[in-house]
Amino acid sequence: MRYTRLGSTGLEVSAISLGCMSFGEPSRGNHQWTLDEESSRALIRRSLDAGVTFFDTANVYSDGSSEEILGRALHDFASRDDVVIATKVHGRMRPGPNGGGLSRRAILSEIDHSLRRLGVDHVDLYQIHRWDYDTPIEETLEALHDVVKAGKARYIGASSMHAWQFAKALFTADRHGWTRFVSMQNHYNLLYREEEREMLPLCQDQGVAVIPWSPLARGRLTRPWDATTARTETDEFGRTLYHDSDRVIVERVAELAERRGLPPARIALAWLAARPGVTAPIVGVTKAQHLDDAVAALEVGLDDEEMAFLEEPYAPHTVAGFR
Ligand SMILES: NC(=O)c1ccc[n+]([C@@H]2O[C@H](COP(=O)([O-])OP(=O)(O)OC[C@H]3O[C@@H](n4cnc5c(N)ncnc54)[C@H](OP(=O)(O)O)[C@@H]3O)[C@@H](O)[C@H]2O)c1
Repeated sequence: MRYTRLGSTGLEVSAISLGCMSFGEPSRGNHQWTLDEESSRALIRRSLDAGVTFFDTANVYSDGSSEEILGRALHDFASRDDVVIATKVHGRMRPGPNGGGLSRRAILSEIDHSLRRLGVDHVDLYQIHRWDYDTPIEETLEALHDVVKAGKARYIGASSMHAWQFAKALFTADRHGWTRFVSMQNHYNLLYREEEREMLPLCQDQGVAVIPWSPLARGRLTRPWDATTARTETDEFGRTLYHDSDRVIVERVAELAERRGLPPARIALAWLAARPGVTAPIVGVTKAQHLDDAVAALEVGLDDEEMAFLEEPYAPHTVAGFR
């Protein structure tokens, strides 16, 4: 495993982060395709054995059961000091007023709920899952600063939003002397590269770590375009992100994979890991082989010609995955 600093912080993380959205009780929340606790634990353990130290979850994943499963597994298989736990806040956790969002009230309650589910007294990275159009960013940032000062989170990060929003959040924190976001978890892969316009240069300029979500386009970059799996059958959100016009890129990945004698997942991840500013792709795994491919991808070097071959058919996409 390769380790790297999280952006301009001193925090070391594995260059692959394990995405824990795949883990959760299928009957809770809206991800029917998730792995139950027993299967999840096996993959968490395997990732620790492979040197993965960086784990990403969210309060909203499978209605909190992703955090519960991850917390119990890390407690049983790892030392707290050896792992970096990231979670998120924003998603709706219950119906009715104050059930989600980034108000002071929501953040201060949700961090406590996440810590309880994870069974820890602090998380390493507390991320806002989306922009909250109904709460002033000053209120959100001051509450996050207070979470850090209370010792409940070591660092704060953000996830998919417009670059102008992220820039506003960074300069607002600076103006008030509040804790600054150190990472951006955004949607970035060979099929969706809109982040290259504004967000990635902003992050590089500001020393912000980039930890892309769905680095394999939720599996589409790993198999023939028309193939289906248990996840694709029920992954509603995933259906909103990719289009038939993306097929040509999937075919390029497959062609290069065949030439190199490697699984397509390794090629697609190697491309992403080599992109400027990318710190650690957050991979989703539902089988042991997926994890092994993710780790092995860090050793795959692509030359300029191969990178260009994969990139060449890309055409601009409508912004997707957030509003
Ligand atoms: N911040 C956000 O808004 C946001 C949004 C989405 C995700 N995330 C984070 O990002 C993480 C990863 O997201 P993701 O699961 O969509 O990522 P992904 O890595 O793009 O997709 C994972 C899926 O790809 C397939 N796959 C992975 N490796 C493979 C391999 N070697 N060979 C064949 N198929 C392979 C599997 O599909 P099958 O299971 O269908 O076989 C797996 O479920 C999540 O767990 C979560 O932590 C964050």
